[in-house]
Parts: sequence; C-alpha cells; structure tokens
Amino acid sequence: MKILKIAARHALVPLLYRYPPVGLQPERLQYYLRNIIEKKDIPGVVLEIGCNLAGTSIVAHNMMRRLGINKDYICIDTFGGFIPEQFEADRALGTPNVLSNMFSANGIGLVRKIINQHNCNDIKLVQKDCTKMNSADLGGKPISVCLLDVDLSEPVRLGLERIWPLVSPGGVVLVDDCPPSSDWKAKVGVEAFSKASGVSVSYLFGLAILEKPLNA
Ligand SMILES: C[S@@+](CC[C@H](N)C(=O)[O-])C[C@H]1O[C@@H](n2cnc3c(N)ncnc32)[C@H](O)[C@@H]1O
Repeated sequence: MKILKIAARHALVPLLYRYPPVGLQPERLQYYLRNIIEKKDIPGVVLEIGCNLAGTSIVAHNMMRRLGINKDYICIDTFGGFIPEQFEADRALGTPNVLSNMFSANGIGLVRKIINQHNCNDIKLVQKDCTKMNSADLGGKPISVCLLDVDLSEPVRLGLERIWPLVSPGGVVLVDDCPPSSDWKAKVGVEAFSKASGVSVSYLFGLAILEKPLNA
C-alpha cells in the first residue's frame, strides 16, 4: 500500500506538487522566514531537520536566492517517517497511535523530484536520523538558522544536543509543535534539553526559540 502511494506520488509530482507542499502553520512560517532574513549576516547554513516533502524548504530557499542570501540550505530527514522506538516513547506520553505512520509514504527520490520541479536543485538532502547528525553533514559549516521539525520528544532532545554546539553566536534554533498542549510531545524534548544544558528557551506561535547570544 505504502509502495503504491509513493509510486502514485512520483508519477503525479507535476500535478500534486505544483505548489510547494508547506507543512508549517502560516504564523510559524513567517517567523522562520523572518529569522532567515534577520540572521543573514550570521555565518552558517540554514538547516531544516524534518522537511517531509520540502514545501517549507522550497519557499525558504527561493526567498533566500531572491534576496541574495547565498547560504547553503540543508535538509535532514529519515525520508520514511518516524523511527519506531522514538514514536513509541511518545505514545507512552499520550501521542495517539494513529499518527505513527504519518510521513512514512515518502522517499528521498520523491523529495528530490519535487524540489527540482521548483528550481531548487541546490538544496542538499541528507537521509539520516537527526539524533545521529554531525558537522560533516553540514560540510563542516556552522548553523545560522535551524528549523527542527520532527514532532517527537526524543529526536528533539537528542537533536538539540547535536545541533546546539554547531550554532554560530547570534544564530537561532526554532522547534515546531511546541504550543502549551498538543498531541505532539516536541516541547517535552525542548524542556529536557533546556534543563540539562541551561540554554534558555522562549515560546511564540507554538514555536520554541533558542537563541545563542552574540558574545557566546
Ligand atoms: C512535520 S514533518 C516536517 C514538515 C516540514 N518541516 C514542513 O514544514 O513542511 C516531520 C518530519 O520529521 C521527520 N522525522 C521524524 N523523526 C525524525 C528523525 N529522528 N530524524 C530525522 N527526521 C525525522 C519525518 O520523516 C517527517 O518528514
């Protein structure tokens, strides 16, 4: 069933994805884009962890190129949905089981086809569990802006542990799905990271915001 769904999506890319399939709420999308503009002089790549079909990536990348922000845009994703043990941990916290297969009918080839259709051939795609990402995935470059959008508590917590040391002074990490209450437990991971590391966090529009001071 999943294979058929992926094959159908592949065949219908020009029709299904003629507009970028953005998964962020509009108020969060505008805040992410605004940060990319405001942090244009902070060195490093723009990193999106959890890109699904790359709709947000296409919008952000095309905005950057139009504004002459010539930073790398890098996406890290499993391109197959959630890692079962990571989902299981949040199911125990109350995330409904019906969400476990969301994002699984995907593949790196399908996402490459969608981004190429929107002239974003230079977006770099990295297929990986974000809890295992490292500096080499970013070509050894630091991070200026990161959107961490993987929904679950453990990949958020462990992802932040990996990302934070790579963020440039003045850079920012935004974590999606952190409203006061939600089926998704991303906020649990943010709070655990913040408590263990001492990094302070604020919240806006359901995003967690972790800014590295310029003098860090
Ligand atoms: C909500 S979607 C991302 C939406 C996207 N940022 C957008 O705005 O359109 C969540 C994505 O996180 C990915 N994901 C979940 N767990 C992951 C992990 N441990 N490592 C990398 N990606 C993961 C899923 O495959 C899925 O594509």
